[in-house]
Amino acid sequence: MSSERKVAVITGASQGMGAALVEAYRDRDYGVVATARSIRPTNDDQILVVPGDITDRKTAERAISEGLARFGRIDTLINNAGVFVAKPFTQYTEADYAAVLGVNLTGFFHITQLAIAEMEKRHSGHVVQITTSLIEHANSHVPSVLASLTKGGLSAATKSLAIEYAKLGIRVNAVAPGVIKTPMHPVETHAQLGKLHPLEFSPRNHVEAAALAGQQAQNAEVGV
Ligand SMILES: NC(=O)c1ccc[n+]([C@@H]2O[C@H](COP(=O)([O-])OP(=O)(O)OC[C@H]3O[C@@H](n4cnc5c(N)ncnc54)[C@H](OP(=O)(O)O)[C@@H]3O)[C@@H](O)[C@H]2O)c1
Repeated sequence: MSSERKVAVITGASQGMGAALVEAYRDRDYGVVATARSIRPTNDDQILVVPGDITDRKTAERAISEGLARFGRIDTLINNAGVFVAKPFTQYTEADYAAVLGVNLTGFFHITQLAIAEMEKRHSGHVVQITTSLIEHANSHVPSVLASLTKGGLSAATKSLAIEYAKLGIRVNAVAPGVIKTPMHPVETHAQLGKLHPLEFSPRNHVEAAALAGQQAQNAEVGV
């Protein structure tokens, strides 16, 4: 089954920017495959929820195969699921390392492979990574080597994929937000974090950038 309506797969869709991205893509009349561990059912029949851990390839396989079965096409993948642990470098534990690399890198790897394999068949598609401004602008108030290690890797992989797949009509971009007010940050830190940001401390700015990246016919990195 295929339809005219475009379809976006959004990871980390249960809260924060991922949940806002689901709304933004629905506003643009996309069908949406929304995946996260705690994603809840919805009454909107143009949203398919796929619960699961994005580090597990089976979750990625279900998101893509169930999305195809329901909507018949995959146009856009937003790699939004992410884990952020801000600690002095020597205090990171092995569990921190495994958790951050698992979601930010392994999660990206599985679902992006599967989504691009589908996009190749149509010679069309778009993949967006959500990285962070910290990879270009380290901040002495936010020690975050694991974010730089993983999101920096995604930034480099974005450029690699953009070049590799441009000839097949598949665009690959990254959006690098600054600090955004989401459940990722405890409420008691909001006032202080808000001072780090020149724009409104809200997911909306980022979501508009990610959606805009999804509509531009070029490969680029967008910072907000
Ligand atoms: N907020 C910021 O200031 C900021 C700044 C720069 C970049 N970013 C990036 O922007 C993205 C979204 O951030 P956010 O602030 O919206 O984060 P958030 O509110 O903490 O949401 C993170 C999302 O990732 C999902 N997730 C985490 N671990 C997962 C796993 N193992 N399997 C599947 N899903 C998992 C969560 O869903 P479940 O828990 O339900 O699985 C949730 O939906 C992330 O990549 C983050 O690194 C955020």
